[in-house]
Amino acid sequence: MSSIPKEFDPDHIKSKSTGVLQMYRDEITSKEPMRSVLKNNPEIYFVQPKRSNDWGNWEFKPGSYYDTTIASKHPYWKNKDLPKSSKDLVQLRADFLKWGYCKIEAALSIAQVERIRERVLDQAEGEKLAGIAQKTPSGQNINCCVNKGFCFEQLIEHDPSGVQGGPLIEQLVSEALGSDWICASLIAAISLKGGVPQALHQDQNNALDSRSPMSINILTAITDIDDANGGTLVIPGSHLVLSEAMRAGKPVGKLPPAINVDAKAGTMIITDGRLLHGTGINHTDKARIVMLNGMQKHWLRQQENWMLSVNPEVLKRASPKLLQRMGYQATNSAQTNEGHGFGANGTVDEANGAIVGFRMAADRGEYLRVGELGPSSKPEELNAAFTIRDIVGKARAGGGSAPVGIGRVAKG
Ligand SMILES: [Fe+2]
Repeated sequence: MSSIPKEFDPDHIKSKSTGVLQMYRDEITSKEPMRSVLKNNPEIYFVQPKRSNDWGNWEFKPGSYYDTTIASKHPYWKNKDLPKSSKDLVQLRADFLKWGYCKIEAALSIAQVERIRERVLDQAEGEKLAGIAQKTPSGQNINCCVNKGFCFEQLIEHDPSGVQGGPLIEQLVSEALGSDWICASLIAAISLKGGVPQALHQDQNNALDSRSPMSINILTAITDIDDANGGTLVIPGSHLVLSEAMRAGKPVGKLPPAINVDAKAGTMIITDGRLLHGTGINHTDKARIVMLNGMQKHWLRQQENWMLSVNPEVLKRASPKLLQRMGYQATNSAQTNEGHGFGANGTVDEANGAIVGFRMAADRGEYLRVGELGPSSKPEELNAAFTIRDIVGKARAGGGSAPVGIGRVAKG
């Protein structure tokens, strides 16, 4: 046996790969902009209790980022033109660009809010009784809401029958993220008395020097939110300060103080993914409920693994729009199934769709994947009922595009 060249020896590679020799090292190992944010703004620090049974026991430090109030009461901010709830598209655009968030007034009607509020509270109770409630340092989260009530499907696709301001929201998000944006996850965040404030952070965790957001978050107030019950903490305008520092390759200096966002139930708050924010402290005895609906560029990996998690019943009734938003679509040949670009068909119902068809076959326990084949494969192996044959056949019959060549009957 010939010996392996020494250049491929792991020890040799290691010896040639010490710190400064590595390419792109500074960029990849940089902890900026948060490193300089924390260094130059000591009032912003991570409140991180170590064990879940310590949650609720933390030291309130006066003057910290969470020791704050709403904009109209804040000495630093009260005379600045921070976003106010509005239905005016021109105003909302200007707020979002300048301050990194905007507040859409009455995006949900009172009845639409009430439906979600009841569903969230019932689900929270049910998950507690089932022993599967997700406790968080701030209270309780309900994850993967799409399976937990039709009102949540409507929320993800901004269907006006569930979100009266849907068309306006979609316009703003499309301008921020470009077309074909998708949903990262939909979570109900319940903040309870005794909860720990969340550390200020950016939701966007890549391309932090970007000039436009890679992701945004749509926060829907299901209860009124303010400084008493833990209205989301934000540093207005921080999205620009941090991304400009990154582009200049300079540390972030002293930041203005954080505020609690205040909003009436039914308001949708769209935040730029680069904005510094975190959950506030609920000082009241009542639950504070906010729906967190992250949206992002279609090429980013989503927070929720919708391919696995969506209930079959939800998949069956989902509109093409909802499916696309959950990522049941190949874009730029990503998220394909058993073939380059396969899954990009516009039709996504079970009869014609590609990705959904594979998922449904898996649900039935009938997904037959193409495995190892060769010149000596037996006829029954070559003629197996591979799911890809079925899906391609249906796509072609339905007028959809399908990979060339697939579907021929094997010779045997
Ligand atoms: Fe966040």
